[in-house]
Amino acid sequence: MALKLGFIASGGGTNLQAILEGIASGTLPAKACLLVCNNSAAGAMRRASAFGMPTLHLSSHTHPDPGMLDEALSAAMEDHGAELIVCAGYNKKLGRRILQRYQGRILNIHPSLLPKYGGQGMYGMNVHEAVLAAHDTESGPTVHLVNEEYDRGPVVAQARVPVLPGDTPESLQVRVLGAEHRLYAETLRRIALGEIDLDSLKG
Ligand code: GRF
Repeated sequence: MALKLGFIASGGGTNLQAILEGIASGTLPAKACLLVCNNSAAGAMRRASAFGMPTLHLSSHTHPDPGMLDEALSAAMEDHGAELIVCAGYNKKLGRRILQRYQGRILNIHPSLLPKYGGQGMYGMNVHEAVLAAHDTESGPTVHLVNEEYDRGPVVAQARVPVLPGDTPESLQVRVLGAEHRLYAETLRRIALGEIDLDSLKG
């Protein structure tokens, strides 16, 4: 049976697109049941609509009270039957209610080999600048479970890419993002097929 995925995004949505392509091609046995976006103009919204999946804008504009926003997000995911929540470039912290209701069932992708270069302020180009400043010879994305602490949930999967001589933060970002697209879709496929047991990772 297809695994029902609910997505949360804020930005361009290239990871979302890669996952939706995996579903459309039949390699990922899942159903995309909802995208919630906190930015109604985000590229993720346009990409989701192009695939004909339901979208919803929920943010501090629609729900100024953070508790109400948390409740609305959680309720929307449940109403659409989401079994697993996929954060695909979401730039806010999740509230307690959704973290409780979907405990061990919320995934995120981070553009570094966690636990390196995670935590507050470590997002976007900051991550790739830090990797280059440390003269690391490899980098790559991490898929992890989301808990109360930024980038600290159990690691589900990682992929490695080389850091090449002459790399700039921008060139490294392109290489890591390509690996993100492959890793996120492949990790979800393995979860859907029961090859990865999220319950064994809880903690
Ligand atoms: C990615 O770099 C991901 O690692 C981070 O947010 C970015 C999302 O990019 N969490 P996109 O919106 O999927 O293109």
